[in-house]
Amino acid sequence: MKINDFKLEVFFGKHEFTAPYLLTQSDCASMSIDQVLAMEPGSKEKFMTEWLGYTEVPGNPELRKIIAGLYTTMETENIIVHAGAQEPIFNCMNVLLDKGDHVITQFPIYQSLFEVAHAIGCDVSKWSLEMTENGWFMDIDKLESMIKDTTKLIVLNSPNNPTGYTFTAKELKRIVELARKHDIYVFCDEVYKGVELDGIKRPWLADLYEKGISLGVMSKAYGLAGLRIGWLATKDEDLLGKLIKMKHYTSICSSGPSEFLAGVALKHSDKLLARNTKIIEDNLVIAEAFFDRYPKLFNYTRPMAGPIAFIEMKIDMPIADFCDKLVEEAGVLLLPSSIYGFEGQYFRMGFGRDNFEESLKHFENYLIDKKLV
Ligand SMILES: Cc1ncc(COP(=O)(O)O)c(C=O)c1O
Repeated sequence: MKINDFKLEVFFGKHEFTAPYLLTQSDCASMSIDQVLAMEPGSKEKFMTEWLGYTEVPGNPELRKIIAGLYTTMETENIIVHAGAQEPIFNCMNVLLDKGDHVITQFPIYQSLFEVAHAIGCDVSKWSLEMTENGWFMDIDKLESMIKDTTKLIVLNSPNNPTGYTFTAKELKRIVELARKHDIYVFCDEVYKGVELDGIKRPWLADLYEKGISLGVMSKAYGLAGLRIGWLATKDEDLLGKLIKMKHYTSICSSGPSEFLAGVALKHSDKLLARNTKIIEDNLVIAEAFFDRYPKLFNYTRPMAGPIAFIEMKIDMPIADFCDKLVEEAGVLLLPSSIYGFEGQYFRMGFGRDNFEESLKHFENYLIDKKLV
């Protein structure tokens, strides 16, 4: 398979471990192994005796059961554990799609969610988010008009990377009705689910639709990216069988110690999500005061959920050049919209890290230095 470079990961490869002020990260603040184990009495001793042999291909049954419990209609058999969220995106697209299939993806979106389909030779149509007076908007009538006889899959990402746009339960229901009518699979990347900023919990897509696939991960809302534990949830038995056979060619099975730690963390899911929501909310207070100070330079829309937002910057140079200069001259990392192939002058800002205030201060000082404010 020939596949285009993953622009966002190439960009992070250059800067993520060298830039001191990461103002664009999409994961929540992480924690140490010790802190995870401290959530569950007795788990530290058990962790030290974890066996380092191969594990079961679909994932540790106990972990799968805990994950299934996050949903309303899933059983252990409906969950397949994978390496992070990237492996299941790659595997699921390869299992579901053939050359010539039509795929509709939300846009802008995390690149692999359309790039793998593109590399397979699918006909990919982008269903664009629109910026309106009331913020980001997705026109479901438009989605309906894009459906063709060959449409095999609709790809959603809710909460969305990079905008934070999140479908309401009513919108999800309507998308499912459309998909059911045309017998189309729906893949919903829900890796930012759990840190809702409007206080409204939405259903998981896989609970709503027999041909729905939900993607979850420990990396984002839970802040435990280093575990490299993600999962797919679906009721489609045929697909589950094929996903297992595909995993034989990628990671085979997950890391036992990571599965153990993910299990401990998910037993305390509510506590962990409340901690991370609080970090995001506190940082949003600081961020919103900043954007209020400079209304002429920024057009800010509060994310509905998740730790990131896409912010318009009214500046007289390409946003990619501005972000390059910002990281070179001030060590502050922001992700420009060009990385997403999205037109307009936007950057992605991340609110999930506990040093947000310090990073933002460096950004503000740079703007003052350059007389941009
Ligand atoms: C929407 C979305 N899906 C999937 C991924 C991949 O997640 P992971 O790093 O856990 O594989 C990311 C990472 O940024 C993402 O933003």
